[in-house]
Amino acid sequence: IHNVIFDNSVLGSIAVANEIATLIREKQKTNSICVLGLATGSSPIKVYEELIRLHKEENLSFKNVVTFNLDEYFPMQHDDIQSYHYFMKEHLFKYIDILPENVHIPTGNCSLEESSVLCAQYEEKIKSMGGLDFQLLGIGRTAHIGFNEPGSHLNSTTRMVTLDHLTRSDAASSFLGMENVPKKAVTMGISTVLEAKRIVLLAWGQNKAEVVQETIEGDVTSKKPASYLQNHPNVTFVLDQEAASLLT
Ligand code: F6R
Repeated sequence: IHNVIFDNSVLGSIAVANEIATLIREKQKTNSICVLGLATGSSPIKVYEELIRLHKEENLSFKNVVTFNLDEYFPMQHDDIQSYHYFMKEHLFKYIDILPENVHIPTGNCSLEESSVLCAQYEEKIKSMGGLDFQLLGIGRTAHIGFNEPGSHLNSTTRMVTLDHLTRSDAASSFLGMENVPKKAVTMGISTVLEAKRIVLLAWGQNKAEVVQETIEGDVTSKKPASYLQNHPNVTFVLDQEAASLLT
């Protein structure tokens, strides 16, 4: 795993947004689509802010962009303000010129039976678009990527998962209490993520320092799913000084 350390998350986020913008523009030169895997949560917010600025001020168009989000809570209504559907609309999609039919986010409002069919279709859809050109990731304190919690298999694909206790407790404040945090989620799998041609993981702040250190310097193990990234040929961790503070 290659890592880059910035003085703060603003500078790191601008660098990542510029990499994404360059990729989108390169694809435009050959009239190709650009397939982006996107994350929610606090880590990517400034990347999205910079992409919006590039759209408004520097003519960056998203007409050739197709997106696949990592995950969604289950069960979850898509207009619920806690949903990742709502998050993506509010932090990115409503400000840019992406075509609505090019946006894909796992479904949280269906039955369990429907979900397994939709998960298989999600995988097929990514493949039919030629695979993910670029995957943006955050990391949870359980070392989850997407919602692939400890125990996730290397060959896992998009599926329903049970959230770890620590993940639910970290989400408790935004849900106004742990009892309101869904117990399940639908997430891309480890294999789905690792098939991306390029992966950038963002981690900011002291509370990510320990998991970043374990992920980069520890063994590859299903107990720390992000450690699977060690086996990907083109992954960069973009860190601030605090998140990098325990690296040797
Ligand atoms: C979000 C996702 C999660 C988050 C992780 C970190 O789509 O897949 O893996 O990236 O929980 O969350 P933040 O960025 O809020 O610390």
